[in-house]
Amino acid sequence: MQISFAAPASTIEAGSWVVAASEGRALTPAAVKADKASGGALTRALKYSRFAGKSGEMLEVLAPERLGASRILLVGLGKPPALDLKSLEVIGAQILARLESAGEKSATLEIEVPKSAKLKPAEAAAHLAFGARLRGYSFEKYRTRNLDEYKRHLETLKLATADAAAARRAWQALDAVADGVLFARDLVNEPPNVLYPAEFARRAKTLAKLGLKIEVLGEAEMKKQGFGALLGVGQGSERESQLVVMQWNGARKKGDPVAFVGKGVCFDSGGLSLKPGSGMMGMKGDMGGAAAVTGAMMALAARKAKVNAVGVIGLVENMPDGGAIRPDDVLTSLSGQTIEVLNTDAEGRLVLADALTYTQRRFKPKFVIDLATLTGAIVQTLGFEHAGVFSNDDKLADRLAAAGRSSGERVWRLPMDAAYDKMIRSKIADVKNIGGANSGSITAAQFLKRFIEEDTVWAHLDIAGVAWQDGEQKPMIPSWGTGWGVKLLDRLVAENYEG
Ligand code: BES
Ligand code: MN
Ligand code: ZN
Repeated sequence: MQISFAAPASTIEAGSWVVAASEGRALTPAAVKADKASGGALTRALKYSRFAGKSGEMLEVLAPERLGASRILLVGLGKPPALDLKSLEVIGAQILARLESAGEKSATLEIEVPKSAKLKPAEAAAHLAFGARLRGYSFEKYRTRNLDEYKRHLETLKLATADAAAARRAWQALDAVADGVLFARDLVNEPPNVLYPAEFARRAKTLAKLGLKIEVLGEAEMKKQGFGALLGVGQGSERESQLVVMQWNGARKKGDPVAFVGKGVCFDSGGLSLKPGSGMMGMKGDMGGAAAVTGAMMALAARKAKVNAVGVIGLVENMPDGGAIRPDDVLTSLSGQTIEVLNTDAEGRLVLADALTYTQRRFKPKFVIDLATLTGAIVQTLGFEHAGVFSNDDKLADRLAAAGRSSGERVWRLPMDAAYDKMIRSKIADVKNIGGANSGSITAAQFLKRFIEEDTVWAHLDIAGVAWQDGEQKPMIPSWGTGWGVKLLDRLVAENYEG
């Protein structure tokens, strides 16, 4: 889909003409213009319709012969004071969905946001396009039949807006973020026989074209350096474990980078503590944290963010075979701490432990944030609407919450405390990899904290409930893999670390 911005014209030549009304059927000037151009077709349709102008409501009129357009689509904006950039993204997504179900090939959006909404028209247009682009995604590469039913039909989307140059500037950054989100979704959607650790690493390497510096450590190198926890997880798999290090140096000055660390379990069978069949389905998505980190690094590079950032992802496959780690094994992590593995299905924290140690020691980051589909318990707690956040720093936690509100990828903080830490004391090693029957997300976070050095500012995002969607589809997410986290990390950087 080609997206472009142009000044409004008196009429449109072809495709759908999309105009707006706010609640109470208050037609915008462009809607009045389209109505006149069509000889009152909209007014007539309104007479026989319940359309009220609520946010996302639509009224479709096939355009009369004399118009070049195929149809006029009237879209509700709701009450102007309630309109913000996020709701415009949703409206953009809803418009795209409607155009797709109509089988439309081209469309011009002339959505004028009422003045009382207090939004810049150029930004409004860019965010409409952002929502449309996210909704326009699809993952159909493994279908060989009935492609017409699944593929996207819209080829060109034009946004008519008074200040097209300013809209184009705003779009540049949003387009880059969308690139990152879609890249992450592809990674999550890929089946695990295709996307195993080395293949993930290969795809990450392609991002070097954006100016990212990418390094890949294989098993021999990690063994030499002492990644005993990460390698322990991968040792039951035929596939080689990998660590990918991505660096973006966009700040004007040198300085400590911000750091993101991702759990990249390309498939989580549970290992010898094997998951039941029903719990194993979807575990190709257990690399959602690594996908988010990769997508975020891509977005930062593509929009040339003025920040120094590193992304580190631990890529493994958790499988049971004769060489696999056993429940009762003790592993020595990169930090030197020993870990008693009592359940091989609590593997994500083992991967993260070494990736976190590596990141802190090598980069001395301003802060480190890890993202991981870490526990089923977080899905029980927060469902699909928030990721869990755990942090040793109130300021970072607050900034994450704020970026969550502005990006729409919301997080909710949960507690950490010495009393929970007690639950992961091992009988024979420094720490064990499971807590008790309760508060599983918190004990997982306490485990990670054991690998956070004294002066490191840190936050952990448990994204098990948001990295993919099995139930109801969200307006801007038309696929199983959500790409969750790319928008959040991008916002966090944009709002706090580019000054
Ligand atoms: N990848 C899973 C967590 C998960 C579960 C993500 C369901 C998404 C949906 C993780 O590796 C895991 O298996 N965690 C265990 C930990 C337990 C053994 C302490 C869990 O949550 O059951
Ligand atoms: Mn597991
Ligand atoms: Zn896992």
